[in-house]
Amino acid sequence: MTAQLIDGKGFADNLLDTFRKQVDQRVAAGKRPPGLAVILVGEVAASAIYVRNKQKACDRAGVKSVLHHLDAGISQTELLNLIEQLNNDPEIDGILVQLPLPSGIDSEAIIESIRPDKDVDGFHPYNVGRLALRLPTLRPCTPFGVMQLLENVHGDLKGKHAVIVGASNIVGRPMSLELLLAGCTVTTTHRFTRDLPQHVGQADIVVVAVGKPGIVRGEWIKPGATVIDVGINRLDDGRICGDVDFVAAAERAAYISPVPGGVGPMTVATLLANTMTAVQQHDPL
Ligand code: GUN
Repeated sequence: MTAQLIDGKGFADNLLDTFRKQVDQRVAAGKRPPGLAVILVGEVAASAIYVRNKQKACDRAGVKSVLHHLDAGISQTELLNLIEQLNNDPEIDGILVQLPLPSGIDSEAIIESIRPDKDVDGFHPYNVGRLALRLPTLRPCTPFGVMQLLENVHGDLKGKHAVIVGASNIVGRPMSLELLLAGCTVTTTHRFTRDLPQHVGQADIVVVAVGKPGIVRGEWIKPGATVIDVGINRLDDGRICGDVDFVAAAERAAYISPVPGGVGPMTVATLLANTMTAVQQHDPL
């Protein structure tokens, strides 16, 4: 392997330590700690693991997390009522609804019901729109985490050609907006893209967020490129892997993020960064 590993876990741990100090300062000054409400609907195993990781990070940072674990059969109206209650709760700074939701519930309606200043996932159209207009407020967590890793490696990203593989609402689309904001030339590829290898081969920065192991092959990577793997896939033997053919890509890339230990911990840390931003708005120190 020639690539240098991007240590997302270490970077995220440092951020959590910084947030802990900020929370301790708040509490020492007589302020309440930040409050995060986490809503988990049903029994999707992966979602339960993600939520547990988010709660652990809250504990570490001193953020008060309150879990609402609801039955898969809950109605959309009941869920909307809970969000309304949390929207009006002065002790709650952030509301996170873990996705995906059961098929009977309209995820867009749920996301839009969250008060934008409590939308710590950064998924509300208001927050995505602010990012599109170069006025970021609460930023979608995974892309914001990726930007911090990229800026840590490269400093200024202006003029770099970034190619994103996958155009989801959660990662690919806001990732394009973040990279554009940073001055990159951005190509967003998706299921209808022709000749994906040719696009990937031109990238100084490749960000892959599809959810398919091996969708990006190592030999496509331009020598010296930076590869960010957002995928988290569980193989039949129980191992976790990303979307990039890691071993072959690491032979060509200059920097590569591993799975696990790369982007995943940064998503959690940026959720807490958004919660810190929110509490600072609601109850400034
Ligand atoms: N499901 C997969 N990723 C995420 C995320 O970042 N936030 C939420 N709420 N749900 C998710």
